Amino acid sequence: MKKKENITRRDFISKGAMAAAAPLILNYNYNSFAKFKNNSINVGIIGLGNRASHAHIPTILKFPDVKIAALCDISKERLEGAAGNRTHIYRDPSIGQKVKKYNPSLYQDYEALLKQKDLDCIFVATPPDRHKRMVCDALRVGFSVYVDKPMTLTVTDSQAIVKAAKKAKGVFIVGQQLRYNPLLRKKIELIHKGEIGKVVLVSYKVFRGSDRLPSDDQPGKKWILSIEQGGDIILEQGVHWIDVFNWIMGTHPIRAAGLGGQGILFNEEYDREIMDHYSLIYEYPGNRRVFFSHSWMSMPGV
Ligand SMILES: NC(=O)c1ccc[n+]([C@@H]2O[C@H](COP(=O)([O-])OP(=O)(O)OC[C@H]3O[C@@H](n4cnc5c(N)ncnc54)[C@H](O)[C@@H]3O)[C@@H](O)[C@H]2O)c1
Repeated sequence: MKKKENITRRDFISKGAMAAAAPLILNYNYNSFAKFKNNSINVGIIGLGNRASHAHIPTILKFPDVKIAALCDISKERLEGAAGNRTHIYRDPSIGQKVKKYNPSLYQDYEALLKQKDLDCIFVATPPDRHKRMVCDALRVGFSVYVDKPMTLTVTDSQAIVKAAKKAKGVFIVGQQLRYNPLLRKKIELIHKGEIGKVVLVSYKVFRGSDRLPSDDQPGKKWILSIEQGGDIILEQGVHWIDVFNWIMGTHPIRAAGLGGQGILFNEEYDREIMDHYSLIYEYPGNRRVFFSHSWMSMPGV
């Protein structure tokens, strides 16, 4: 029985949550289990939008030893929806009923959630400009923390998190889920072994539809259109692939050049600051380069 419990917890922390892009703690060490206060892992989630309701909460529910013990959102509607008191926030309404059985404590203020004594892990799934404060506060209290990408919007804020994570009792992970994609891991392992020879150029193009951007009936999602809150699409979306380039190259670029802008009609419909297309060239040590283009300009639905 003990063994089964441990496997379940281990799965939550490594593979399972990861598979649905909720990779709580991959680089954990097994001693960290000793830190969990009860027989179950008690999770608190801050930010109950798209990511929490469609990825984190449905995934967490698959782990019987993991309990959703606290929920927080500034929106009362999202909070009550996530708690199962209203069911409309989940694609599958039974999710709300399952969450309700855990009877999580509900908060509109994340600092109040961080005072809940029986919690072990905190998921931060708020817009990116809020990550630094929430993550640093949660790490300082001693929780293990998962935060969605992008970790922050500035180097200074990221450095503050790294500093807090180094001192923390718990473990810390950023939701760069491509790092945990088994196929990609295998491919990059082969590249690193030299199976395809020396990598001198990576060329990658992402072509998406603007219908993925928030519509007028999603006012809560407008942060993504603001550079100050979302970081522009290079950071908010491109961070997935730019991280993979660094992974392949085994280091960070030393120079970058790029151009981008706004070119499609929804300019007029949205009060938005962010680009809908850009191209970048990154230069890496050893005369190696990445050519990367990314746009929201494909046909709707593509
Ligand atoms: N890895 C992925 O594939 C992926 C996919 C989508 C989003 N994300 C990331 O997840 C994060 C959240 O994105 P989302 O799509 O869920 O956004 P969202 O707008 O749908 O949800 C964010 C939620 O946070 C709440 N919130 C805002 N400020 C808050 C505060 N101070 N305290 C408590 N709650 C607060 C909002 O009310 C909202 O419900 C972002 O960093 C985003 O980049 C990652």
